[in-house]
Amino acid sequence: MKLGFIGAGNMSGAILDGVLKGGLLQAEQLWVSNRHEDKLERFARQGVHTTTDNCQVAREADLVILGIKPQMFGDVLPQIAEQVRGKGVLSISPGYSLAWLREQLPGCHVMRAMPNTPLLVGKGCTALAQSGDVPEELFEAVKAVFSSAGEVFVVPEHLIDAVIAIAGSSPAYFFRMADAMVSAGQSLGLAPDDALRMAALTMEGAARMLLESGKTAGELKRQVCSPGGTTLVALTAFDDYRFEEMVNEAMERCVRRSQELGK
Ligand SMILES: NC(=O)c1ccc[n+]([C@@H]2O[C@H](COP(=O)([O-])OP(=O)(O)OC[C@H]3O[C@@H](n4cnc5c(N)ncnc54)[C@H](OP(=O)(O)O)[C@@H]3O)[C@@H](O)[C@H]2O)c1
Repeated sequence: MKLGFIGAGNMSGAILDGVLKGGLLQAEQLWVSNRHEDKLERFARQGVHTTTDNCQVAREADLVILGIKPQMFGDVLPQIAEQVRGKGVLSISPGYSLAWLREQLPGCHVMRAMPNTPLLVGKGCTALAQSGDVPEELFEAVKAVFSSAGEVFVVPEHLIDAVIAIAGSSPAYFFRMADAMVSAGQSLGLAPDDALRMAALTMEGAARMLLESGKTAGELKRQVCSPGGTTLVALTAFDDYRFEEMVNEAMERCVRRSQELGK
């Protein structure tokens, strides 16, 4: 298979690195285009074919990943529509529905996925929308691309907005939490680097416990809370500032924004 990327940004880089590191494809099977040449340098150094011509990627690749921002779809899809007929095209953007993509790219097998940036470190979480009219072999190839750098969930398309709220956008929630903890740690006298490592290692460890212990988040939380101890007192601030309500509101806003971007 030849895999193409239109747009040489963060997500294309993360997906491509996963595919190369995982040994799924070789550099000569990969094509990347970008509007400005400078972004292509790092891909060229990896031995990948690079070009500023999106149509060349569309011609060469069997499967094309749209690694561009949603606002660019209106420019790019008409450019490539003819070259991708009969091939696979994958959108990783919020908003654009499979039905809309099919209208823009007639005769092409369109798919939607929602990945996240932890793909960069092989710990991605990607949701792939069910798509009845895509040949199984092609759908499996897309699954393999994202499985090479993380875990893949197949979901009905209407749940993609929910996936954006819980996985696509949520690395930023955790980074913000880490930032707040590091600032507070520094105010309490910790060295910034130590504070950052302590917060990040604790996040990593807590995530592993959630995935591996077979216990719920509530049970694991209770394990940390000794009666009359420090953690229970710390968590009263979460109650006072209505933490759960804030998280719920953030995720609802995320879903609403995705729907606004929608077509
Ligand atoms: N970042 C995330 O966490 C995340 C998570 C899930 C899904 N996504 C989705 O993934 C997609 C890509 O996001 P990203 O964060 O990777 O964006 P990004 O880093 O801004 O990359 C977009 C790339 O597209 C290029 N580009 C723009 N117009 C182009 C055109 N007409 N032809 C060719 N290349 C063009 C840009 O090049 P120039 O800079 O040269 O203009 C840029 O390198 C978006 O739809 C986003 O919603 C992102």
